[in-house]
Formats: sequence, C-alpha cells, structure tokens
Amino acid sequence: MSHVIEMLNIRKEFPGIVANDDITLQVEQGEIHAILGENGAGKSTLMSILFGLYHADKGKILVRGKEVHIHSPNDANDLGIGMVHQHFQLVHNFTVTENIILGKEGKFFLDRKGASKKIKALSEKYGLNIDPDMIIEDITVGMQQRVEILKMLYRDAEILIFDEPTAVLTPQEIEDLMQIMRNLVAEGKSVILITHKLNEIKAVADRCTIIRRGQLIGVVDVKSTSASKMASMMVGRPVNFKVDKKPAQVGRVILDLHDLRVMNNKKLLGVKDFSLSVKAGE
Ligand SMILES: Nc1ncnc2c1ncn2[C@@H]1O[C@H](COP(=O)(O)OP(=O)(O)OP(=O)(O)O)[C@@H](O)[C@H]1O
Ligand SMILES: [Mg+2]
Repeated sequence: MSHVIEMLNIRKEFPGIVANDDITLQVEQGEIHAILGENGAGKSTLMSILFGLYHADKGKILVRGKEVHIHSPNDANDLGIGMVHQHFQLVHNFTVTENIILGKEGKFFLDRKGASKKIKALSEKYGLNIDPDMIIEDITVGMQQRVEILKMLYRDAEILIFDEPTAVLTPQEIEDLMQIMRNLVAEGKSVILITHKLNEIKAVADRCTIIRRGQLIGVVDVKSTSASKMASMMVGRPVNFKVDKKPAQVGRVILDLHDLRVMNNKKLLGVKDFSLSVKAGE
C-alpha cells in the first residue's frame, strides 16, 4: 500500500493553545480514513493545514511520496486535494453549474453547456443525483453538500476531505453519503472523514487516526477494533455506552414558547407557529 498523503510531526500553535502537537497522519491510496476526536481535539486545524488554509509551525507534508508546500487552497487543488467544509461555500441564487465552475473556469460564461454536461456525467458516475440546472436555494442541505462534492470532483480531486459532513444531514441523507463515499473509493479516490460519531466510522472507514487535545493517540484498523475501544482512546478513559438514568422528577414549566414565528423582511424563515414548554428536571 502506498501513502497518498503523509503529514509528519505536524505542530500548530494558536495563542494559548497547541492545536496540533507532533501529529502524524498517513492516508493510504483508496481507503476511507477517519479522524476521530472530541470537540477541540485539533481535527479541523490539521485538515486546514492540509488544505492550505493554515501553515504548520513544524512538520512536513508528502503527497504521493513527494514533499510539498501547500500555501493556499489553490495549491491543494493543484495537488488533487479537495475539501467539503463544515459550512458550505455556495452562492444561493446561482445554479449548481454556476457554483461549480465559479472560480475555476476563467471564461465563466463561455462553456456553461460543456460544464453542465461534465457535471451531469460526474453526478451519474458517483450516484450523486444532482440536476446541474437547479438553483442552490431550492435544493435540500443534503443536495447542497453533494454540490460541494461535485465541485471537488469537477476539479479532479483525488483526495477528498469531509469535515463533520453528517452534522447537517437527515438519517437517510447520511446513508446516501456513506454510499457516495464507498463509490468514491471504488473509483480509486481516497477519503478523509472527520467525525466524532463512532457508528459512522464503523459503517464506512477502513482505518482511523485518533487524536486527543492536539496529540496523536493511535491509528487503528476499524474492522478489528471495537467502538468502545475507539471511544476510550478518544476521551482518555473507559466509556460506558449505557446511560444509567432514573425516571425524571418533573417540576413546573420553566420555558414556554407560544406560536413562535421567525421572519426576515416579512418573509417566513422556516419556523411557523411553533410552541414548546419545558419543565424543570426533564
Ligand atoms: N484560528 C484559531 N485561532 C485560535 N484558536 C484556534 C483557531 N482554530 C482553532 N483553534 C483552537 O484550536 C483547538 C483545536 O480546534 P479545532 O477546530 O482544530 O478542533 P476540532 O477537533 O475540529 O473540533 P470540533 O469537533 O469542535 O470541530 C481548539 O482549542 C480551538 O479553540
Ligand atoms: Mg472541527
């Protein structure tokens, strides 16, 4: 197995905190490699370094065995590295095609048809189910995420980074995304999946690098490692999956919402006539 990505002894310090302290990550060609860690463990920082958004204070990066210096996301793109961020970066009143070619084609208006065709082909090849002519604001969050995936594929990315991709998805969309990741590696791509959800790692990942408070804890083979083992590596102590909780002693209502609406410029924003009451102790 050859390593498509090697990040060796990476250190990154922010004022008052060492976000990455001597972390090494090695990703094999064609695998789904999970990065597991609690909130603030340093996962996004590590990936931002790989994607050229931050620079490491120490350490080096090898892509396909060759040392590289990644100064910007453009450099990362040129090396075949793409990233879907925790927050999507789409222009809402543009079409799928416009969003995908934005910043890529110098000649933005010239070859829309050709681009549309290529996008359609990519969508079919990887099971993304996206119509290139749809407007972003008319499609679901799950579809918007698949547009971000198409954006990477359109730029011929070979190494795809997903930062907490399922946080915004419904259970069905999560299933679909897992299948898309399998399709991607089946076509020879490599996937880095940042998450703190063990069931997702168990469902799709081949190997998992675990980090805690900026430090590398270990790398495990997912099939042969139990979820509770990975969980305890993540938090640094044994983890009990069973919640020992007595029936609630419910008290008086302490929060009451009546017919809540959220408007912006007289336009309803999703919430309409929403009521909720929360009791103490529940
Ligand atoms: N630009 C920044 N400036 C200062 N501190 C930062 C910056 N980015 C991250 N940090 C800090 O570095 C640490 C690691 O953050 P990071 O975002 O990499 O964690 P994470 O593992 O991605 O967490 P999460 O699961 O919450 O996304 C945190 O303590 C965070 O507050
Ligand atoms: Mg993060």
